Amino acid sequence: MDRILGRIQEETNRAFEGGGEKRNNAQHSKGKLLARERIDLLLDADSFREYDMLVTHRCQDFAVEKIPGDGVITGHGTINGKLVFVFSQDFTVNGGSLSEAHAEKICKIMDKAMKVGAPVIGLNDSGGARIQEGIASLAGYAEVFQRNVMASGVIPQISVIMGPCAGGAVYSPAITDFTFMVKDTSYLFVTGPDVVKSVTKQDITQEELGGAKTHTTKSGVAHLAFENDIDALKKVRELVTMLPQSNYSAPAQSECFDDPTREDEVLDKIVPEDPNKPYDMMEVIERVVDEGRFFEIQPNYAKNIIIGFAAMEGRTVGIVANQPKELAGCLDIDASVKAARFVRFCDCFNIPLITFVDVPGFLPGTDQEHGGIIRHGAKLLYAYAEATVPKIAVITRKAYGGAYDVMSSKHLRGDTNYSWPSGQVAVMGSKGAVEIIFRGKGDIAEQEQIYNDKFANPLPAARRGFIDSIIVPRETRKIICEDLQVLKDKKLENPKKKHGNIPL
Ligand code: COA
Repeated sequence: MDRILGRIQEETNRAFEGGGEKRNNAQHSKGKLLARERIDLLLDADSFREYDMLVTHRCQDFAVEKIPGDGVITGHGTINGKLVFVFSQDFTVNGGSLSEAHAEKICKIMDKAMKVGAPVIGLNDSGGARIQEGIASLAGYAEVFQRNVMASGVIPQISVIMGPCAGGAVYSPAITDFTFMVKDTSYLFVTGPDVVKSVTKQDITQEELGGAKTHTTKSGVAHLAFENDIDALKKVRELVTMLPQSNYSAPAQSECFDDPTREDEVLDKIVPEDPNKPYDMMEVIERVVDEGRFFEIQPNYAKNIIIGFAAMEGRTVGIVANQPKELAGCLDIDASVKAARFVRFCDCFNIPLITFVDVPGFLPGTDQEHGGIIRHGAKLLYAYAEATVPKIAVITRKAYGGAYDVMSSKHLRGDTNYSWPSGQVAVMGSKGAVEIIFRGKGDIAEQEQIYNDKFANPLPAARRGFIDSIIVPRETRKIICEDLQVLKDKKLENPKKKHGNIPL
């Protein structure tokens, strides 16, 4: 017995050492934490239960170093008491590359997370498919992808990119719900700078091609970028705390220190008299939600729409809002896709949606039309229309044209739709409208005044019941809290089908 205990201890020690001192130091010298250090920061103290610590690869070809654990640490633990499953790739062991056994370890925790209904968090730091294992490692990736797809909409999946993630490896994070990146030390690309250079002759750095800034400002592939590993892991803890465990568990509930009946007079004056003057929709959001706390997703991508999580009376809600400060709040391709995916996430996980509307329409131009704004804009329309969660919308100013329909309108089964007195629900702004319908006829200024009196206000929509009520802005929080209470047991089902065919 002593002999076997000694051997178990020896292998366990080997697993804890990872790639050894030299490689561990190299990892630290790049400003990166070790795989186990990351897990310690992510999870509540002493909550991690590791699986498969002694698993090794089975590769007979080449002399691949055999280190127990095979480059990935897997198991479960808690975040603020909530169960989560985690895998953390260890770059010090064969570059964190994915062997067949490595993939099996990841699949095991994903399967278990699905069975019990708990989020999966992947900490990615890997040289990709284990080259020496050839097609077996590619098969391993596909096994992970298949599980990512099956888990989509059932349990929240979060990827944190904390080192390399290239080639086929990128498609697991791409499927997960949220992807965080660490600045300067992480990158995501299908083919690296060398391949880009040989195919396109273009010189580009790893950072420019697929670094955190690129993916959180240009491509929209990642949702948030952080200065270092510690910041990223802290933020994952915050996000997980706001999310439900699965699509069949109760919504996340936190302690609320904010009066649900609180009124805010600043809201009465936030919308400028001049309809073309911008204001900051973020201020509206912060003045309405619990304690002004807002977890923004993709803050630096498609800034003309704001998305993120907040709480109302302690219950998590998803916020979508046009931002008049950027492109006048118009919907364009990027904004439509950004918001559509978020709306669908909230709907999957029973998170009520609150939408603040100030939208002058879809962004005009050949770039947009040729880029497919029709099918991309349709994604947002589709997402709102299929969503069965409670949907509350507040029109703060403009709600023009097709964009009015799209932004959680009554006609897309909005539960409660409000307008502030400054709301204007119309086919378009007065200037454009008058130029079309009175071209060459009469006094344009006078016609514009008539049009404004008729349409540039919330009354026509209120008279038809397209908005349920014109509300005093200061009372917005109180009214939404009441509505969420009324809607908390809302039941609505879509027709049975295999799945819809959202325009892609
Ligand atoms: N398969 C097997 N081993 C790999 C590997 C892979 N895909 N990627 C990295 N490694 C190993 C290296 O052999 C090295 O082993 P060692 O510690 O025994 O010397 C270790 O991981 C670290 O790699 P290294 O190249 O020294 O690190 P780096 O920081 O300089 O570069 C990468 C990192 C990821 C850019 C580089 O390793 C790389 O290009 N890897 C291949 C990426 C790829 O094409 N993957 C397949 C596509 S899915």
